[in-house]
Amino acid sequence: MTQDELKQAVARAAIEYVPAGEIIGVGTGSTANFFIDELGKIRDRVKGAVASSEATAARLKSHGIPVLDLNEVDSMSVYIDGADEINPQGDMIKGGGAALTREKIVASVAGKFVCIADGSKLVDVLGAFPLPIEVIPMAQAAVARKLKTLGGEPRLRVKDGKPAITDNGCMIIDLVGMKIAKPAELEAQINNIPGVVTVGLFAQRGADIALLGTAEGVKKLNF
Ligand code: 5RP
Repeated sequence: MTQDELKQAVARAAIEYVPAGEIIGVGTGSTANFFIDELGKIRDRVKGAVASSEATAARLKSHGIPVLDLNEVDSMSVYIDGADEINPQGDMIKGGGAALTREKIVASVAGKFVCIADGSKLVDVLGAFPLPIEVIPMAQAAVARKLKTLGGEPRLRVKDGKPAITDNGCMIIDLVGMKIAKPAELEAQINNIPGVVTVGLFAQRGADIALLGTAEGVKKLNF
């Protein structure tokens, strides 16, 4: 099976976690896109969705799924999203698609985080994937200096020859070469650096369930 077929398989499996007549939170990325396409097939069952990025909002709307502003929603039972890495404890690295801050906000309102990913995202120790950190543009050099003291190599993310800009008008530093032994502690430490908007470590609030696509089928992990 190709990586896309594995992503499609978990996207289909995630439909089981969509409660009828409720609002759900929807993540960003290629796996989330497959999920949105599956959601489109059952759109009458869904009351609406809160999107974690402009791209996700546009895709949801293209399927006729109502998109709500998070300020209109008090709670939701489930948030469904992909990950760049997930460990056996359900801690994740996210933000490869630059949507980490809105992803973390929407996830924080949801009762359950369902992570959908192809099996290659499961790792023993987080950090082989560069850790994304969203920063206020005027602080990017100062934040990069502080990040260097943590042992990794900070790299400003570039798109089309210019710094990549997030939906929030901020920049992304990717921290390369980290072996993250204590994800929740590192999450707090990086979030505490002035100028950091969010670090793409999801450990203080990790996944509750992971659906991982493998050649043997969809594997479910509960955390
Ligand atoms: C976007 C994310 C994505 O969930 C993550 O990058 C995984 O993406 P994909 O499903 O394309 O592998 O965090 O900010």
